[in-house]
Amino acid sequence: MMRIFGVIGDPIGHSLSPRMHNAAYRALELECTYLPFHVKSEDLSEAIRGAKALGIQGLNVTVPHKEAVMAFIDPDPLAERIGAVNTIDFIREKGYNTDAFGVTGSLRSAGIDLGDKRVLMLGAGGASRAVAFSCVEAGCKLVISNRTKEKGERLADELGGSVTAIGLERERIAPVIAESDILINTTSVGMYPEVDKIPIDPDLLHEDLIVFDLVYNPQKTMLLGEAERRGCLTIDGVKMLVYQGAESFKIWLGIDPPLEVMEEAVREGLKDMYG
Ligand code: ATR
Repeated sequence: MMRIFGVIGDPIGHSLSPRMHNAAYRALELECTYLPFHVKSEDLSEAIRGAKALGIQGLNVTVPHKEAVMAFIDPDPLAERIGAVNTIDFIREKGYNTDAFGVTGSLRSAGIDLGDKRVLMLGAGGASRAVAFSCVEAGCKLVISNRTKEKGERLADELGGSVTAIGLERERIAPVIAESDILINTTSVGMYPEVDKIPIDPDLLHEDLIVFDLVYNPQKTMLLGEAERRGCLTIDGVKMLVYQGAESFKIWLGIDPPLEVMEEAVREGLKDMYG
């Protein structure tokens, strides 16, 4: 019998997850399909109950429902700590957060172990939480730099330990970035259509820095282009998308996903959408 999966969000038309998962199912000849569902916030509770009643096996959850959905599905301990669910398994009746795996998987694919690295994270929004938790879990020394400093401080307080927060001003970032191993951009700066924007002064980048940008449209953001020019190892946002999706796939189907096929599908999809 055909197994049905999907993604819920608002908006949802731009999601690359259907392409990515369906390509994986085709490659492994699985009798599965993955659909996008446009669900408004006021319909979230009914959508979850309805999906379960219809026998849908699993759902990804995207903006703006990742936090709110926790009222309707039991989160596992990691999702509980991050405060957001992006994957529901209706067989186990559990909510998971695979964004943290997206971060560690992307870095590992480039041969980098978060280990005890010194990380500078730009941003303190929704996408930042899973990144920050992955860093803390791995024992990194994390500095959060956010335009609205109080928001960064709140996240740092929540994470506890040695996490600190600073503003996004050049003079605050300069001494920290000089001592950092990894820079992770979790802000939306540089995202299509504002592709000529960069979250920090590129002259602060140094060749020992690994630069990971969560923005995936365009695939090579201005930040990654500038980092590449300065000899930094760079990782783009497509990797994050693929590795979080791969972990959802594994939770639902219990087998290893074809990573290259998924990555290719996302990169092709982006080309179709943005040229
Ligand atoms: P998401 O869920 O995608 O993370 P978000 O929660 O709205 O989206 O967070 C966006 C992040 O990008 C925030 O850290 C935001 O900074 P503020 O907390 O100061 O709003 C950051 N951001 C967005 N536009 C920015 C800009 N032009 N300059 C600097 N930071 C920006």
